[in-house]
Amino acid sequence: MKTESIGQTIPFSGRKRSLIEDARRERESSSSSPGPSRCGDSFVFEDEKSGRVTLNVLFALRNEKNAGFLKAGKVFETFEAKLLHLESRPGRKSKNSGDDLEFFMRCEVHCSHTDIFINSLKRVADDVRLVQEEKFPWFPKKIAELDKCNHLITKFDPDLDQEHPGFSDQEYRKRRGLITERAFNYKHGDPLPVVEYTTEEVATWKEVYRTLTGLYPSHACRQFLDALGQLESECLYGEDKIPQLRDVSAFLKERTGFQLRPVAGLLSARDFLASLAFRVFQCTQYIRHPSAPMHSPEPDCCHELLGHIPMLADKEFAQFSQEIGLASLGASDEDIEKLSTNVLKFCTQLYWFTVEFGLCKQNGTVKAYGAGLLSSYGELLYSLSNEPQYKPFDPAETAIQPYQDHSYQPVYFVSESFEDAKRKLRQYSSTIQKPFSIKYDPYTCSMELLDEPSKIQNALGQMREDLKILHNAMERLGQK
Ligand SMILES: [Fe+2]
Repeated sequence: MKTESIGQTIPFSGRKRSLIEDARRERESSSSSPGPSRCGDSFVFEDEKSGRVTLNVLFALRNEKNAGFLKAGKVFETFEAKLLHLESRPGRKSKNSGDDLEFFMRCEVHCSHTDIFINSLKRVADDVRLVQEEKFPWFPKKIAELDKCNHLITKFDPDLDQEHPGFSDQEYRKRRGLITERAFNYKHGDPLPVVEYTTEEVATWKEVYRTLTGLYPSHACRQFLDALGQLESECLYGEDKIPQLRDVSAFLKERTGFQLRPVAGLLSARDFLASLAFRVFQCTQYIRHPSAPMHSPEPDCCHELLGHIPMLADKEFAQFSQEIGLASLGASDEDIEKLSTNVLKFCTQLYWFTVEFGLCKQNGTVKAYGAGLLSSYGELLYSLSNEPQYKPFDPAETAIQPYQDHSYQPVYFVSESFEDAKRKLRQYSSTIQKPFSIKYDPYTCSMELLDEPSKIQNALGQMREDLKILHNAMERLGQK
């Protein structure tokens, strides 16, 4: 930027002039040090036609600078900066943080004024810096970062929802509070909490278990029945005790690498799907209210343990679940405009119509594999009756199908097989535009962004080694 052009391009008057000239002097005196920004840096976003750039600026106003906000406003006025967005929060750096404020501003200025605009702002505010705009929302890169994925949806909570069967039962709500508090405090790596279930809770479980297991042989898919059989033969499942997450997690880990972590209630779609990407399933530990053993408006341990767990012990299904999670990572609002569809909404719907309410074909008949069906006596019967409409599983159609969370689904999607569903999902996911591709590293339980050629080369190298092992195995088989 040429500072000499400033005097000609900005109409000066009074205080405006002194601000600019102060800044010019400052700039000249510090010309040897790098400036705060330049047009073309990744911190500024330039519109070539108008010559204006968009800046994301962070700055603080200390307590002793009460007039700082007005002065900062003057800087904006001087440079004809167009304010696009403004946020403030209590200061976090100084001793008087209670009295200080930090500001985030998104604004538009002329490209040639960028440096002097920032320098002028530095004269009236503290900690002025430009920040790079995040192109996609934050998501966990390491499994331990799932500790940050705990945003709950409270619409079915018994403390808030008058329709909840436990709403007027203070004892039930207190018990729920005790169990969920342990889930709130859980951190990755902690041992999974063990819940000493009461006689009344076990009685509720027993009623649900007996009723549903009576329907499974005729309504559940083969993979579900196989896994349930294993869980029962290993004495993890039965009608007389509610399984502990610790035991069930170890069972899954051995079979598909999935593991459980406790959750206090219904999670936001973004957090829940992010967990699946790491082969982590978030599980509630409380049980539904005894007055309504066959109905729960929210996930409880009956839904998780009977509906979800057996399917997660199947390798194909586990892979399918992880793929939905991976597709959801970094889903942004920008994608909504580009694709005319919300990627996160797409993944949520896909999850809903498969993992929760999916049907599949087996030996010429339709069977249930969705947890919402396998944990609900009424909907399991209904879904396999003549009443609902069936559609072949197609991710593009699933993405726009409205779903019900208060009543049975009018439409169910039927997969040919999990392998087929996975293939279709991959095909559709590849059309989702994202600024990066992701590879999950099972050794470190972390996500690797494939955003540099060297990272792609490394991944290819690893793949070649894996192919060599398979090639050798085939040769050995051929020699026999
Ligand atoms: Fe569920």
